[in-house]
Amino acid sequence: MKLKGFSVNGAGNLVLNGVDLVSLSRESERPIYVFNELLIRENLRLYQKALSLFYPKSSSIFYASKAFLNLAMASLIKQEGVGIDVCSGGELFIAQSAKIPSDKILMHGNNKSRRELQAAVEYGVKKIVVDNVEELALLQHITASLKKECSVLLRLNPGLDDIETHKYMVTGAKDSKFGFHVDRTKIAEIINDACSRGYIKFKGLHFHIGSNLQKVSFYEHALDKVFDFVVFLKEKGIEIEELNMGGGLGIAYQDHDPLPDIEKFIKTLSQKVIQLCEDKGIPLPHLMFEPGRSIVGPAGCTLYKIGSIKRGPNKILYAAVNGGMTDNLRPALYQAKHTAVLANRMNEPDSDQPYKIVGNCCETGDILIENIHLPHCVEGDVLVIFSTGAYTHSMVNNYNKHLLPGVIFVRDRAYEWVSKEQTLQDLIRFDGLPEHLR
Ligand SMILES: Cc1ncc(COP(=O)(O)O)c(C=O)c1O
Repeated sequence: MKLKGFSVNGAGNLVLNGVDLVSLSRESERPIYVFNELLIRENLRLYQKALSLFYPKSSSIFYASKAFLNLAMASLIKQEGVGIDVCSGGELFIAQSAKIPSDKILMHGNNKSRRELQAAVEYGVKKIVVDNVEELALLQHITASLKKECSVLLRLNPGLDDIETHKYMVTGAKDSKFGFHVDRTKIAEIINDACSRGYIKFKGLHFHIGSNLQKVSFYEHALDKVFDFVVFLKEKGIEIEELNMGGGLGIAYQDHDPLPDIEKFIKTLSQKVIQLCEDKGIPLPHLMFEPGRSIVGPAGCTLYKIGSIKRGPNKILYAAVNGGMTDNLRPALYQAKHTAVLANRMNEPDSDQPYKIVGNCCETGDILIENIHLPHCVEGDVLVIFSTGAYTHSMVNNYNKHLLPGVIFVRDRAYEWVSKEQTLQDLIRFDGLPEHLR
């Protein structure tokens, strides 16, 4: 797979931005998440550049922090001057801790709590994407009692049932927990009612149809539906100033997957919005995107060590690694497919026997890669799984009390730990011991 930043050195080791990943793997006995910091920056800039090139009105990018977030990532987002999409009080807290200004934060969530909404309003977050009627009522109450204004977008569910991705990554189908499901007339009433009280400022609409999408036509279809609704709102005297199209651009996980083309994606969708506005006589809205996976996914890889190797049926060899579904839940959750290499045997030919890469959890489903050809593996070899930058570290868990791995950012021949590994003491840090059990 053609991934940016990787090369092979004279020792036959895999190298990222000049850093030998085999040497790097010796820094820990656990898996390590490694991010190409330069590629994260490049991807963010590609989105911004494409928008300024192809969309004639104002626009903004809000990085979807659910894909991957820690203090270093939030600080990088701040440095790059883009916005951040947070979908919980925890993500908001990290954005605040990195001192991301409130006008660069947009808040999501399908069941935001009072505390989360209040924290967002108090900080003055730029925009709240309201998911449902109850949330709008709660937000009205909070803004009125704090006497603070708040701009909102309504999350629409375009009801698209034909999106091609794993069913758990479809978010805009009719049968979905996300967004407004109420009928059109009611939405117009709801908007008017919310705005009549003074503190809620209706700015426009949001939709996010799904994640890891390879075809831009799904967005075009969604836009047709959303613009029908925009026209309906206009007839009711409600104008939209802003349109947020969510995230979702797919990335390459396997050799045959197409590489994401950010420029083409933005160009096609900008042109579609411009065309629809022209056709329907609507002023161009401020356009927003919330990419997550396409920013960090290809920029991340995970370093593992091979442990036991067992012979299974049909010639397959089980190669167990020192991590698994605790650090990458995607294969177990979405049957996601990844590809990998042996970082210390880059110049060796693949053996005839296929390997099944399994994790170290007590679950039969703890399989990272179902079937892969690699050079002949022995204990201690360094396996690098690619495209693990998105939705891996952010879904990490302590099953079997495996310790959470740390994160390294690699720049140009330099690297830093940006999240420490957990320690054994962390496993009991939050436990209490009642008197009768001491
Ligand atoms: C509302 C919203 N916006 C943006 C994203 C980011 O999507 P992706 O990481 O596929 O770009 C998601 C992820 O599911 C989402 O739910």
